[in-house]
Amino acid sequence: MPILSVSVHFLPDNVTVEAQIGEGLLNVAERAGITIPTGCLMGSCHACEVEIAELGDRCCCISSVPPGYPQLTINLFSDPTW
Ligand code: FES
Repeated sequence: MPILSVSVHFLPDNVTVEAQIGEGLLNVAERAGITIPTGCLMGSCHACEVEIAELGDRCCCISSVPPGYPQLTINLFSDPTW
């Protein structure tokens, strides 16, 4: 039974939303009420880079929810207290 829905957990806001495989990460974040800073939207400036616990660093503007993970934890770097 393939996994079609992925639970995406955003930190440090601690918000979780359900996402579909193939859905763009910026869309998922927007639905979660999370604003990810963007610049070029082409994968070159890295303004939108986040750390995904299961995958490593990714640029949200060119990344979508991958198949094969029941959940993803996305960590935004923007919290200055870290
Ligand atoms: S907005 Fe520039 S890499 Fe994503």
